[in-house]
Amino acid sequence: MKNILFIASESVPFIKTGGLADVVGSLPKSFNKDEFDCRVILPKYRSMKGQFAEKLEYVTNFYMDLNWRSQYVGLFKLVYDGVTFYFIDNEYYFGGDKPYSGDTKFDIEKFAFFSRAALSALPILDFRPDLIHCHDWQTGLVPVYLNDCFQLGDFYKGIRSVMTIHNLKFQGVWDIKTVRDLVGLSDYYFTSDKLKFYDDANLLKGGIVYADRVTTVSDTYAEEIKMPFYGEGLDGLMRARSNCLRGIVNGIDYDEYNPETDKFIYQNYNVDNFRKEKLKNKKALQRDLGLEVNEKKFMIGIVSRLTAQKGFDLINHVMDELCQDNVQIVILGTGEGQYENAFRYFDWKYGDKVSAQIYYSEEMSHKIYAAADAFLMPSLFEPCGLSQLMSLRYGTVPIVRETGGLKDTVEAYNQFEGTGTGFSFTNYNAHEMLNTIRYAEQIFYDRKREWNKIVDRGMMRDYSWSTSAKKYEDLYRELLPW
Ligand code: ADP
Ligand code: GLC
Repeated sequence: MKNILFIASESVPFIKTGGLADVVGSLPKSFNKDEFDCRVILPKYRSMKGQFAEKLEYVTNFYMDLNWRSQYVGLFKLVYDGVTFYFIDNEYYFGGDKPYSGDTKFDIEKFAFFSRAALSALPILDFRPDLIHCHDWQTGLVPVYLNDCFQLGDFYKGIRSVMTIHNLKFQGVWDIKTVRDLVGLSDYYFTSDKLKFYDDANLLKGGIVYADRVTTVSDTYAEEIKMPFYGEGLDGLMRARSNCLRGIVNGIDYDEYNPETDKFIYQNYNVDNFRKEKLKNKKALQRDLGLEVNEKKFMIGIVSRLTAQKGFDLINHVMDELCQDNVQIVILGTGEGQYENAFRYFDWKYGDKVSAQIYYSEEMSHKIYAAADAFLMPSLFEPCGLSQLMSLRYGTVPIVRETGGLKDTVEAYNQFEGTGTGFSFTNYNAHEMLNTIRYAEQIFYDRKREWNKIVDRGMMRDYSWSTSAKKYEDLYRELLPW
């Protein structure tokens, strides 16, 4: 039996701001339980969903030295869906109303504390990991700490590490002097071959340099980040570490996202009866959102963080043109003010055609995945993307830009060969996107049988974790051959 420990900043069902939480919450339970005992350490945020916070079991507490400070570390535990989750408690760091404060300096301090506390707690748990799997910049210091002070004790010797990049855009960067003080590492670590990044310190870079293996969440993104456009200043390091870098595409939780059993949607359906039953979801949503109730209308759904990454500049640019078409557009999302306001404006201007739901709701997201005919995701970059996988599962045809995981998971419709699961375009260009949407409209309105076959093929694809979890298992086996 090999012990694997995930250290991460978010996980469903406890706390979620994006796809990272979906991955951390669903991958551990997909491993072969006879061979891997995979557990997870998370922060115990005050903003965690109330029904879970009550169930956590107190384990112990201790004080940890971090540089010149001595800090309280509480430890809690919960077994959920067969997976053991540990939680690090500290009100000062995790007491805010959301996981990331937006104040980079404080967040760096918070996750340095978390990374170190997670490692310090290990000898107290009845679980010594053979391998620690870190996720994103928040845990970038874990491989660095493992190399540093934690080498001193025998307990930590030989623990291997994997660093998974879910989004290279976020790296945890601040000036060296401050970071050195906050994280408690010596000058040795702040050179260009380690944490130093231009004139600053970079936590994710530390993780990439010190982890035994680096992965990211699709093959295409693994290639893209070796180039300056997608490399966010780390493309040189990515090229240098390309022997240790691998893309493993994400899956989604097929129990959670299942149109046949989903409790959130109006009408359950499956690949055999979607032609009749899926439409009922569209009509009910139209009614609930005050859109024209008409099952024949082409409904485009968007569920997303509202940020430039997701291609909202393209959408805004052609929204007026698109709204001249026979379409309905339903948006669920929160994020940057400029995009929230733009969608509120379009909702007001095209009342019966556009519905902007500017909030976060799991239930509403499921309703949209089930109701829409197409799902629009024209990302500027996309490490993997889970929303398009959820759409495929719900028979909602993705319209995407060919980048990162979108390119790897959505096969473009080919009308001559009768293949493909969605529609895609290459360049980050608003009219190229609009033309692609219009091509989809045309197939939807004029060649419904063809459209339904696209839906059919999408629903038949397997984007559960079954294949990708095996790839992670192979990676663990390479690092833990005994
Ligand atoms: P990212 O992690 O970059 O935000 P992904 O496509 O990987 O993008 O994952 C996004 C996840 O967040 C999906 O599960 C999606 O359904 C969910 N999501 C995004 N915005 C909302 C929202 N406003 N309400 C509910 N779920 C949302
Ligand atoms: C990040 C990426 C997204 C990916 C998710 C889970 O948030 O933006 O593309 O699907 O992580 O790996």
